[in-house]
Amino acid sequence: MTGTILNPKIEKYLNDILPKRDSLLAEMEKLANRRDIPIIGPACGRLLYLLAKISGAKRVFEMGSAIGYSTIWWARAMGPQGHVYYTDGDASNARRAREYFIRGGLERRITILVGDAMKSLQKTPGKFDIIMIDVDKPQYIDALNAALPKLRKGGLLVTDNTLWSGKVVNRGGDESTRTIQKFNNKVYGKPTLYPVIVPLRDGVTVAQKL
Ligand SMILES: C[S@@+](CC[C@H](N)C(=O)[O-])C[C@H]1O[C@@H](n2cnc3c(N)ncnc32)[C@H](O)[C@@H]1O
Repeated sequence: MTGTILNPKIEKYLNDILPKRDSLLAEMEKLANRRDIPIIGPACGRLLYLLAKISGAKRVFEMGSAIGYSTIWWARAMGPQGHVYYTDGDASNARRAREYFIRGGLERRITILVGDAMKSLQKTPGKFDIIMIDVDKPQYIDALNAALPKLRKGGLLVTDNTLWSGKVVNRGGDESTRTIQKFNNKVYGKPTLYPVIVPLRDGVTVAQKL
């Protein structure tokens, strides 16, 4: 859950200062730690929560949801009037996520879609206040192309891992690194987006569609 961007002492400070999570999130964090499931973690979870709250979002589409940890932060932030679309290609992740959503009393606020996130997004009617990209990194350009037409004007595109353990500064990296570099250049080059990379954990880009 921790990234390698920051000075480790600062990273530790940012994690130690966090309030304790409730038992559901704490259990998910433990499972993610034990099984190496790459969830966004509590420091970034709070950022998602804050973004949903201050933007008044009511519809969130998540591309790549795993066990539903980030989904829960969105669903809690928006309250009973909000709705989150969970997507994952792995049906066993979705089964586990559903159990967590039921235990958290959130199942009515979340639609679970199993399959390719880009296809699921295209098939889901309407536009979204927030779209989050967190699929496999070589798919980030496809995810961006799928997300932009489905994001409402003024809406937020939130993308995880955009500093990719700091590897974005290297030339000639692997496919994931090269795709993230291309993704970052594209996002900053688009006049219709106003992006900021927040160097929290592994880097989170928050971009508003203008
Ligand atoms: C980094 S994890 C998501 C973590 C989650 N956002 C969180 O922070 O709790 C990425 C997930 O995306 C899923 N995934 C990767 N490519 C996908 C695709 N094209 N469509 C749907 N899910 C995909 C993987 O199965 C994996 O569970």
